[in-house]
Amino acid sequence: MRKSKRLDKIPPYLFVKIEEKKEELTKKGIDIIDFGIGDPDLDTPAHIFKEMHEVLETKGSANYPTSKGEFFFRKAVSKWYKTRFNVELNPRDEVCALIGSKEGIGHIFLAFIDPGDIALIPDPAYPVYKVATILAGGDPYFLPLTAKNNFLPELDQIPKDVLGKAKLLFINYPNNPTGAVAGLDFFKKCVGFAKKHDLLLISDLAYSEMGYDGFRPPSVLEVPGAKDVSIEFHSLSKTYNMTGWRIGMAVGNKEAVQALATIKSNLDSGAFKAVQLAAAHALTEPQDCVDEHNKIFSERRNVLYDGLTSLGWKFEKPKATFYVWVPVPKGETSPSFTEKLLEKCGILVVPGNGYGSSGEGYVRFAITIPKERIASAISRLKKHGIKY
Ligand SMILES: Cc1ncc(COP(=O)(O)O)c(C=O)c1O
Repeated sequence: MRKSKRLDKIPPYLFVKIEEKKEELTKKGIDIIDFGIGDPDLDTPAHIFKEMHEVLETKGSANYPTSKGEFFFRKAVSKWYKTRFNVELNPRDEVCALIGSKEGIGHIFLAFIDPGDIALIPDPAYPVYKVATILAGGDPYFLPLTAKNNFLPELDQIPKDVLGKAKLLFINYPNNPTGAVAGLDFFKKCVGFAKKHDLLLISDLAYSEMGYDGFRPPSVLEVPGAKDVSIEFHSLSKTYNMTGWRIGMAVGNKEAVQALATIKSNLDSGAFKAVQLAAAHALTEPQDCVDEHNKIFSERRNVLYDGLTSLGWKFEKPKATFYVWVPVPKGETSPSFTEKLLEKCGILVVPGNGYGSSGEGYVRFAITIPKERIASAISRLKKHGIKY
């Protein structure tokens, strides 16, 4: 058997290693407090389940869907964008359904990157941006996100020769893994930059509904003229605790949306129609469940933030996402501190450098466990004398 060379360029998916380590310790009888993968522990809201049950009782969902999504789903997405962001989208050609946004993010690179092309991607970042660039034969150019630059890429630092080969600029706010947020001013700058340098601006908006303390994350498409150069990825995974349902959407510039749809039509046959029906229901019904989830996540964030600051930590309290990006104490590295937390305290976090070299010096806590467990983690840190 002779595998492709591109396979050698792909590092093992970050969470595979972490899950293996967790399994090993659990087998030894250790109670692990798991802040690892960002998979919501809360249930999908009951009204969405009910809709799914009803849809499954009726016939008509069993056939192949269309790969770019059924028209009713694309219409629901368009309505949601209008209500939530006051952004107009034509459901015919400015919206495409996805089998989760990971699928669309993975495929968009095939539509825009040829061998030798550059994709401008943040570092640290959701690992798929880098890997999908490599799979398409392109080269990632990393834009460091640091506390110094408020975890926003410094676009004016990108060298001219890099810009000459770059075709895509990827941004993700609210951000995984840093929990950082961006406002419309920054988005406006990105749109202007993309226009000036003939780039496709790709916004990953997976966490837009997880804002706290009154913060409502904006969409890039709210910037006037953004649709000329931008595509945005979104998903129902985090908004409605539907990670396993696999449903998301790409919206925005019609040429970009159609290019993605062309790749998809050749590689997949779309999301299960019943899931699209339930998802359309989720998007168009009242959104009280989102506020309820956010209340729970913001309480958890407070428990973790207050606990860590009581132990000497100093960092910005995140305004969005369910991630807390925590600097490691002096003398530690991301991997050494991750190991220490796991071995000494049975606390599982993700080493920041797993998201890119600029993530070194941090660990990521995903607050996808009850606040009582978070409080126990703080007690364990105290007990073992771990502080900043
Ligand atoms: C930044 C970011 N984008 C996209 C995704 C993909 O989500 P999904 O494929 O479930 O829509 C994730 C998942 O964790 C993420 O963190």
